[in-house]
Amino acid sequence: MEKVTTLKLGRMKDKGEKIAAVTAYDYSFAMLAEAGGADVILVGDSLGMAVRGEENTLKVTIDDMVYHTRAVRRGVERALLVADMPFLSYHLGAEKALENAGKLIAEGAEAVKVEGAGEVAKVAGKMVAAGMPVMGHIGLTPQSIHQLGGFKLQGMGDTAKKITDEAMELEAEGAFAIVLECMPMELAESITEALKIPTIGIGAGPKCDGQILVINDLLGMPSKVTPKFVKKYADISSVITGAVKEYVGEVRGEKFPTAEHSYTARPRHLKAI
Ligand code: KIV
Repeated sequence: MEKVTTLKLGRMKDKGEKIAAVTAYDYSFAMLAEAGGADVILVGDSLGMAVRGEENTLKVTIDDMVYHTRAVRRGVERALLVADMPFLSYHLGAEKALENAGKLIAEGAEAVKVEGAGEVAKVAGKMVAAGMPVMGHIGLTPQSIHQLGGFKLQGMGDTAKKITDEAMELEAEGAFAIVLECMPMELAESITEALKIPTIGIGAGPKCDGQILVINDLLGMPSKVTPKFVKKYADISSVITGAVKEYVGEVRGEKFPTAEHSYTARPRHLKAI
């Protein structure tokens, strides 16, 4: 199948083909997401919550992102690999931002994602000028959680215009796509219509050019909160707990391991190792 590039995502929007994106944080989940046909795999800073059980994404560092991007890279071939720029990795001057984005690109990310607009959009423009594709992220931007007053619906009332302006600004600075998170579907639809570049929605309704979900959420893995916009496509928690329970039972009942999963000193078996 054709490799997904930032250009291909633009063509998908033009043809009305929906873009399916999902997060991954390690090699095995990246392989599974790839096998499932995801167009975009995002190494999200949501790993702070999904992998480490933290309350928000603010403790995730650029070194964490480098580590997880390296692991995910090994499992991805066709999908476009995007890595999140974590909190404060792109706010301390353009030079520092470019240096940090470069670390992710050097690990094999094909694009980076930044949250917000304004000064951030300008920095995004510099990254694009340096040859590093940038995905924007507006609406509910988890790195500004304290400013937003929590994980809340955005874009109601007057703020709808502000979010629309942010989208236009990011497009003007050369972003190749924008994540629209947790906003009324009518607003996401009007932004999607106004932009030439694709929108990827999460909690932003069906009219976006694509959708993204956190892989742990769609698989039904344990999480502290499950937002309304999450659909669970599997109940992997009970599959895993069930398998571990069976294993524990077999160890305690001395049913595992049998000869089938054991080695012997007899030469006939040694040959088979
Ligand atoms: O960090 C993340 O996983 C994200 C997606 C939810 C869009 O930013």
